[in-house]
Amino acid sequence: MIKSILVTGANGQLGSEIQALSKAYSQYEFTFTNKDTLDLSNLCKLEDFFDSKSFDIIINCAAYTAVDKAEEDQDKAKILNHKSVNLLSKIAKNRDISLIHISTDYVFDGTSHIPYTEDMKTCPQSVYGQTKLDGENAIIEVNPKNSMIIRTSWVYSSYGNNFVKTMLRLGKERDSLGVIFDQVGTPTYARDLAQVILDAVPKLKNDSVEIYHYSNEGVCSWYDFSKAIFELSHVNCEVNAIETFQYPTPAKRPSYSILNKSKIKKEFEISVPYWKDSLKDCLKIMGEI
Ligand SMILES: NC(=O)c1ccc[n+]([C@@H]2O[C@H](COP(=O)([O-])OP(=O)(O)OC[C@H]3O[C@@H](n4cnc5c(N)ncnc54)[C@H](OP(=O)(O)O)[C@@H]3O)[C@@H](O)[C@H]2O)c1
Repeated sequence: MIKSILVTGANGQLGSEIQALSKAYSQYEFTFTNKDTLDLSNLCKLEDFFDSKSFDIIINCAAYTAVDKAEEDQDKAKILNHKSVNLLSKIAKNRDISLIHISTDYVFDGTSHIPYTEDMKTCPQSVYGQTKLDGENAIIEVNPKNSMIIRTSWVYSSYGNNFVKTMLRLGKERDSLGVIFDQVGTPTYARDLAQVILDAVPKLKNDSVEIYHYSNEGVCSWYDFSKAIFELSHVNCEVNAIETFQYPTPAKRPSYSILNKSKIKKEFEISVPYWKDSLKDCLKIMGEI
């Protein structure tokens, strides 16, 4: 039987990549919604949407992702990243729908020296991180069946706005740039994550919500990431390594953000591409290589 999948926030980076890949998954019937067709912050109307159509799976790609703006705009971040996720989980539970939800490395404080496993202590340092953690906890408490939370990091894509696009723009405008070297993590090409999610769908079988970590393979700083972007796309811009204090932002970022992906690799039998290989793929699609 054809399964029906609802993808929320479908015009964002991850949602757009799922849309792009969806054509290869004829076993699913997809419904893609955006802020105009399904506003998740309109909590009073959210349930009504599910009265008109039935779904087997929700992939929640919608989120308040403006990390610095969230420090000021706490209410909006809370509604989208926590309250709407809580309601979505209840809807999923009551209607026997699997919920696939995306969370972030920013639930950790970045003081670890070994890659974060799913069970390590969370301690968000920002409003964004706290609201995302609250969303995770709401799902775990409601506990819809066959559901998963995937924490990811440093997401980029040929769609939307992201670090890769900002660096390409600035690198073409300027002769030199200062980029932070004392925050390390792993970039994630949203297309790779979209693929993992779509391939995980038929394998979801758990009574309690499971958390998984997914990013690309390897480790780099923002400095290394920008060097690779310029080298691969032949942008002639000098990159100078700077420290976090030299580029102050309203939201505090973890200095160490590396996720251990052993659980998702083992349980879903996936191999994870190296971050630089995926960056090359994305730059090719963007026409930069
Ligand atoms: N980007 C990263 O580096 C990163 C890192 C770790 C985890 N994550 C998580 O990964 C997931 C996907 O992120 P992404 O990078 O694809 O984010 P994104 O590009 O910012 O996409 C989020 C989408 O949510 C939509 N949205 C905003 N308010 C909405 C509302 N009220 N109702 C429905 N949709 C709404 C946005 O629409 P508009 O654009 O029209 O506002 C946007 O299309 C998120 O859960 C995020 O927290 C992202």
